[in-house]
Amino acid sequence: MKFSSKIEKCGLSPMRKFAPYANEAAKKGKKLYHLNIGQPDIATPAAYFEAVKNFSQPVLAYAPSDGVPEMIDAVVNYYGKIDAPITNKQVLITTGGSEALQIALSCILDEGDEIIIPEPFYPNYSTFVTLTGATIRPITTTPEENYKFAIRERVEACINEHTRAILFTNPGNPTGTILTEEELRLMADIAKEHNLFIIGDEVYREFVYGGEKLMSLLQLEGYEDNVVVIDSVSKRFSACGARIGCVITRNSDLYNNAMKWCQGRLCASTIDQVASAALYTVGPEYFDAVRKEYKARRDTLVEGLKKIPGVIYSEPKGAFYVIVGIGSSKADYDGAETVIAYKLKPEIGYNLNEKWAIGVEFGWMGANKGGDKAFEINPYARYNFFETGILKLFVDGSLGYGHEYGGNNVDHDIFSIGLKPGMEIKLADHLSFETHVGFLGYQHDKYEGAKVNSFGLDLDGTNIIFGLCYEF
Ligand SMILES: Cc1ncc(COP(=O)(O)O)c(C=O)c1O
Repeated sequence: MKFSSKIEKCGLSPMRKFAPYANEAAKKGKKLYHLNIGQPDIATPAAYFEAVKNFSQPVLAYAPSDGVPEMIDAVVNYYGKIDAPITNKQVLITTGGSEALQIALSCILDEGDEIIIPEPFYPNYSTFVTLTGATIRPITTTPEENYKFAIRERVEACINEHTRAILFTNPGNPTGTILTEEELRLMADIAKEHNLFIIGDEVYREFVYGGEKLMSLLQLEGYEDNVVVIDSVSKRFSACGARIGCVITRNSDLYNNAMKWCQGRLCASTIDQVASAALYTVGPEYFDAVRKEYKARRDTLVEGLKKIPGVIYSEPKGAFYVIVGIGSSKADYDGAETVIAYKLKPEIGYNLNEKWAIGVEFGWMGANKGGDKAFEINPYARYNFFETGILKLFVDGSLGYGHEYGGNNVDHDIFSIGLKPGMEIKLADHLSFETHVGFLGYQHDKYEGAKVNSFGLDLDGTNIIFGLCYEF
């Protein structure tokens, strides 16, 4: 059977690739810490579940295509409170921020078009853009520069006659970077001057840790035709399973075009919209408490990172991820070449103590029985810090440095700098870890054609997508 060239160009989500292995481990009763997907462990506010319980309509009917009125009102009120006035006719409720992205991108992009996105970026952007037939022109950023991308020359260098839009996540996933008001304005100015859409994915807006107020693109005046905001209840209210988000624009042509899609897909879930509207009744104390918790985890993580020589990272200012550069080239590590040919199979695994298998530690491809140099060097590793889970650093400070951890060192403690301050894990705890590493939307040519083997790891020697660690 033939498949569309567009879908053939897409890859599977790197965040989800390990799910089957994780499920397998879970079935065996292993405790898993998912460090890979953006699923907060903070309780969803009770208001959501109350609203579900109180839902008493005799027929579970379609909602209006633009959204149930109370959900639209909730969004409008929320933006009103942050000085970003919008009307009910500027909001379309969607099945998560994911659908909001798909709608916005497919209204804007055509075959052959380009969209500018700072990299590293949320990898699903790549899928959504590819499905339109357009391509991403990345602005490459580095931790040394705190992932700064709002630099006029660099942005303008990416603009050509095919460019239609600029998209960024603010606060950034996976970089944790946030834009200042000045930077936001600069990006909006560039978009306006070049007649481009500027799409702000603001799903992490509440999670900023330095006390600063994160500005929304919708707070800027004078860019009504250009600005599109993607929003969602998933992260904000720890309600990923609700699948409710929205696309917001003051550009009425875009709104009208997006409405065609919304009518085509009929509506987002009625009951989830009603319950998600109730989430917006939580007060600022909810966000204060959640921010405090994430900040404590962020700080713990950063303290841990500071102790590791050679790692490159930028303290995340927002969202709940950190991306860490190992800061080394393959050549720095004796035997690293062997990694390229290394066959990772779950049944062989990386077996410590015959019980433990360690997938990826911070961009290192695990520890191996008997001291092989079974690690990989990865430019960047992303971890979230919202899990009660952990990042594992070995107590000798060498960061999971492969060969010390097999063989005779099976009793090594694993020191967790993770996400709950003070948490400490030992091998004997029989824990399993699913880890997620790097390759978040880097678009460098060198990654093209990178292979993913059955274990879901990219073994081309330049990056790793995922690691999984569990007890066999
Ligand atoms: C940057 C970014 N945008 C959008 C989404 C989509 O979220 P949802 O569809 O759950 O609203 C995510 C999820 O991780 C994300 O990280």
